[in-house]
Amino acid sequence: MKPTQELSHEHQAILQMIRILGKIGQRLEADEKVDVTHLEKAVDFIKVFADKCHHGKEEDLLFPRTGGPLGVMLHDHTEGRGYVKALTDSIPGIKKGDKAAARRFAENARNYGTLLSQHIFKEDHILYPMADARLSPEQQAKLESCFADVEEKVVGHGKHEEYHRLLKELEAVYLS
Ligand SMILES: [Fe+2]
Ligand SMILES: [Fe+2]
Repeated sequence: MKPTQELSHEHQAILQMIRILGKIGQRLEADEKVDVTHLEKAVDFIKVFADKCHHGKEEDLLFPRTGGPLGVMLHDHTEGRGYVKALTDSIPGIKKGDKAAARRFAENARNYGTLLSQHIFKEDHILYPMADARLSPEQQAKLESCFADVEEKVVGHGKHEEYHRLLKELEAVYLS
């Protein structure tokens, strides 16, 4: 698999978690009971799978080898981190039954989803094709092995599969 294909594949998983977060937010706003461990697991997915692993591969490995509108892409990543922090910060309040915290979670989940969906569209349709046009087969191969290293060393062996299992588990609860 080409490195950009791997990244696009990860986008699909991230978009699926964004749909789940949206549903969780709707339930919270409707005052329905939501399992708080699901909130914690979904936010952990976004922090590790989406930010640390996926954005890490982009920022440290792909972007430096690519021309293009990188300032915008980096800005989106930074803005996203602000929403993720707000999600994390709202969880203790939700555990205590604080309705304002529940609304904050829903609102930040929505904002994060809007931002990342547009960001992913730009990468899939503009940035990645541009990167593929620039990278030689040797650079592609090198990038592929660097990505494998990130999976093993930064994220941890078997973690990627674990996150896909979590996605399936939450899909069954919120998207079926
Ligand atoms: Fe990105
Ligand atoms: Fe991306």
